[in-house]
Amino acid sequence: MLKSLFIRKPIDKLLEQTEGGNQFKRSLGPVDLVMLGIGAIIGAGLFVRTAAAAAEHAGPAVVYSYILAGIGCAFAGLCYAEFASSIPVAGSAYTYSYATLGEFIAWIIGWELVLEYGLGAATVSIAWSEYLNKTLQSFFGVQVPYAWCHSPFERLYDASGNVVATGIVNLPAIGILLLLTVLLIRGTRQSAFVNSLIVIIKVSIVVAFILLGWKFMRPENHTPFVPPAGTYTDLDGYTHTFGGLLGILAGAGTVFFAFIGFDAVSTAAQEARNPRRDMPIGILVSLAICTVLYVLFSYVLTGIATLEDFRTTGKEASVAYAIQKYMTGFSWLADFISVAILAGFSSVILVMLLGQSRVFFSMSRDGLVPPIFSHIHPRYRTPYKSNIIFFIFTALFAGFMPGSLAGDLTSIGTLAAFVMVSAGVWVLRITQPNLPRAFRTPWVPFVPLMGVLVCGAMMLGLDQRTWNGFLLWTAAGLLIYFVYSRKHSVARKNNETA
Ligand code: ALA
Repeated sequence: MLKSLFIRKPIDKLLEQTEGGNQFKRSLGPVDLVMLGIGAIIGAGLFVRTAAAAAEHAGPAVVYSYILAGIGCAFAGLCYAEFASSIPVAGSAYTYSYATLGEFIAWIIGWELVLEYGLGAATVSIAWSEYLNKTLQSFFGVQVPYAWCHSPFERLYDASGNVVATGIVNLPAIGILLLLTVLLIRGTRQSAFVNSLIVIIKVSIVVAFILLGWKFMRPENHTPFVPPAGTYTDLDGYTHTFGGLLGILAGAGTVFFAFIGFDAVSTAAQEARNPRRDMPIGILVSLAICTVLYVLFSYVLTGIATLEDFRTTGKEASVAYAIQKYMTGFSWLADFISVAILAGFSSVILVMLLGQSRVFFSMSRDGLVPPIFSHIHPRYRTPYKSNIIFFIFTALFAGFMPGSLAGDLTSIGTLAAFVMVSAGVWVLRITQPNLPRAFRTPWVPFVPLMGVLVCGAMMLGLDQRTWNGFLLWTAAGLLIYFVYSRKHSVARKNNETA
């Protein structure tokens, strides 16, 4: 029983599967992959979670949180790159761990990846809804009523702390998910092209904000740069770790969300023209570009607006808010950024939804989830049924869960997967030393060990509520594994008949 939990899928079988039926088109080159990476990376994390991490955990030292999160991702990213270059098939960390750590761990990772991609898409769509309102307000002087663009768990307070509105459902968030699901069903190639255009706009606005905002920074907003260790209680009465080293760590857990996505590149391995060479390029180059931009961006944002802004009126659509309030003469920039963000967030959601359906595609082909998730559309050649099911799943979260909880749950699920991937590279070096690897992680076991430690520490930085959700989700996954997946596992069946 114990041994069969760790049954592994042979790597040559994995490679064989890419030659067989149910194949995607191999249309993506290295530039497309970097674009795919940046498309997934820069999004709500930067434009929404930065202000939240500063307000609730780290103050201006959110800059250090970004550096810490970037370091963790670099270690995990180097491990991802080795996996992706030696096992160039769809399925992300799930597939790689099936070949190395065995079915049980693979299942857990695959299940956590649903948090990453599914809940990640929901989180970004919630942030999209915030910026939609900002845009509607600026251009047309109207807004979606609070109740129809917030979850039932959110409240609007007036200046004296009284509740003036309560959410019902976040309709714009559901709307954007629907739109992108349709685009996705129509094919990756087309989506990748749209994605590339959006990436160019997105990087341009980040750079514009850094350059133009630089001279509006006020030194008093950066003093003290690292607030003294303590706590901060928000308007809902929820207490957060704030200041000091622990605040920076908690902030890193929150802004980690901003880095999620570079690993989504690896889920497109089956669509890459030369996956062995281009996967590591896609992952590492997109990660490096984003880290530099994030550190500068968070420095400028916390220099322009105050923590008080981010805790009250500037809590939503914080970047546009900061520009409008403090960067006199640049309200056009706020408008432009809001519109660009709407497009930018869309590209993130798109890649996440894509990653999600690809992970389930692999799991379904392995028999761990029902076959419906690997049905390919005869004309578009996309797993359309899976896309539709995940639309329903993500829409429920987007409509009814607060963005902060969805964001932190996404982070913790992804971090758990990263910890396992980092450990997996090390295990693979020992168990399968002769496997051809187009890219080798440097300094093994130091890099994998650091991946485990830094990502593990960020998990610990996240709060109890997030941990509860994470444990509940994992428990549900275990239940499904033992009730359904074990019985339907293709690897297990092959093993029995061999
Ligand atoms: N990294 C992506 C974002 O920040 C998920 O939106």
